[in-house]
Amino acid sequence: MLARVFSCAVVGLEGVIVEVEVDYTNGLPGVTIVGLPDTAVQESRERVQTAVKNAGLHFPRHRIVVNLAPAAVRKEGPAYDLPIALGVIILAGHLPHEVVDNTLVVGELSLDGIVRHTRGLLPMAATARANGYKRMFVPEMDAGEAALIPGLEIIPVKSLADLYNHLSGRRLIEPYQPSSSDELEPLFIPTDFSEIKGQEHVKRALEVSAAGGHNVLMTGSPGSGKTLLARAMPGILPEMSIEESLDVTRIYSVADQLPPGTPLIRHRPFRAPHHTISHAGLVGGGNIPKPGEISLAHRGVLFLDEFPEFGTRVLEVMRQPMEDKVVTISRAKGSLTFSANFQLIAAMNPCPCGYYGDSLKPCTCAPAMVTKYQKRISGPLLDRIDIHIEVPRVDYEKLSSDRMGESSEAIRRRVQAARNIQRMRFSTQDSKHPIFCNADMRVGEIRKFCKLQDEGQSLMRAAMTQLNLSARAYHRILKLSRTIADMAGSEEIQSAHLAEALQYRPKIMMG
Ligand SMILES: Nc1ncnc2c1ncn2[C@@H]1O[C@H](COP(=O)(O)OP(=O)(O)OP(=O)(O)O)[C@@H](O)[C@H]1O
Ligand SMILES: [Mg+2]
Repeated sequence: MLARVFSCAVVGLEGVIVEVEVDYTNGLPGVTIVGLPDTAVQESRERVQTAVKNAGLHFPRHRIVVNLAPAAVRKEGPAYDLPIALGVIILAGHLPHEVVDNTLVVGELSLDGIVRHTRGLLPMAATARANGYKRMFVPEMDAGEAALIPGLEIIPVKSLADLYNHLSGRRLIEPYQPSSSDELEPLFIPTDFSEIKGQEHVKRALEVSAAGGHNVLMTGSPGSGKTLLARAMPGILPEMSIEESLDVTRIYSVADQLPPGTPLIRHRPFRAPHHTISHAGLVGGGNIPKPGEISLAHRGVLFLDEFPEFGTRVLEVMRQPMEDKVVTISRAKGSLTFSANFQLIAAMNPCPCGYYGDSLKPCTCAPAMVTKYQKRISGPLLDRIDIHIEVPRVDYEKLSSDRMGESSEAIRRRVQAARNIQRMRFSTQDSKHPIFCNADMRVGEIRKFCKLQDEGQSLMRAAMTQLNLSARAYHRILKLSRTIADMAGSEEIQSAHLAEALQYRPKIMMG
């Protein structure tokens, strides 16, 4: 009788249950795999045969056919080794069929039968739970990740032989117990805000951006501290909620970028790709689509230093995800969606020589060059940036003074307080499309939570015409004002809050 074992595929960020059927067929001894398997799955045949023998079990001297269903789902990678091997062992009569009832089996095998790390365990476990499975056999090193989903028994499997011994009752494997060390590991941040001299207005702008998740563009001459300020950002970002952590971890799990020993990502990501990054590297893609930097920065910061150097084509593809907070990658076989709700922090010089507008050093660029340089960032992209801030050179007095600025920790506490207000505000909203910060607000929420008083309305009206604001800019300014009001602990958006938000818009459109 045919043996049936359930496993899981990952498509985009979601798991899909895969049925592994193993049966005898006519022909010479060997294994055939059908059901749209890629080369890594085909190689499974050799690994499974050797691993079964090395586990001390007899491999049937028949033609064996393995069918992976549903056939329409692309099965990639070696995660099906373990379910296939288990299916063969059951088919050969070494174990009864019922041993895999209500169970999902995932894992790659090495030739000696050791079960190896497999990516994507978190979405797989979530799918297992959603489909009513009770138990999961997973690679030992990935058990912590699978155990993030409550209500599933996670059995960490070291080798095929261990799994066989467990299922035959010879030597039981203890279900995985999450370790109780719930302490958040401190994050190493190279720079503390207290070490950055002057630039008080930039620090304020970064604090506002961290509090509400708003986008920032810093412009200034070389050596004024733009990179330094951006790199200090992780020190002031608010904590992630558990939902946000799971959301981020799912992406890292699928991208196979979870740091070893860290089943759950607790700190907001800070991604700083170099400007030579490819299109696919930034937004995601590849033959089997993988999340790109904008998804790896989900719920955290995407820092693009030397912004214009990224090139127009690469930057323009960020327009859609910056608006929709997801990126859709189209393939011949349908499209995939990855989350990409990041906060953009960009830095640039105002011109090729870097000194346009500098208080001391004259700019040596021809005016046309300056315009051309600034045009590399398109209007629609600039329109999506809430905070435009100039970073002037720091004068000697400030730079050489021993006075320490405010510490990152002190700033972070204020950011956290403002974020807590936001969390309370949005906790009663639609739970299917949760909102975690002011920048996430959609038109409906803006209408509800960003009401302006009369004075604010007339200020806004004047600004709309004077600054030539778009409808998008209008909504973004309201969200930013909401954050500034939250930081002041104010229920209402007052005109002072709106005025500060307006001041972060570019004064003159570049170019
Ligand atoms: N405000 C500041 N306080 C203390 N040190 C500073 C400050 N600004 C710059 N520095 C010093 O100058 C170095 C260079 O700064 P940074 O790399 O941030 O400049 P930048 O604005 O990114 O320049 P570029 O436009 O050339 O990239 C820093 O590593 C630091 O040593
Ligand atoms: Mg720099």
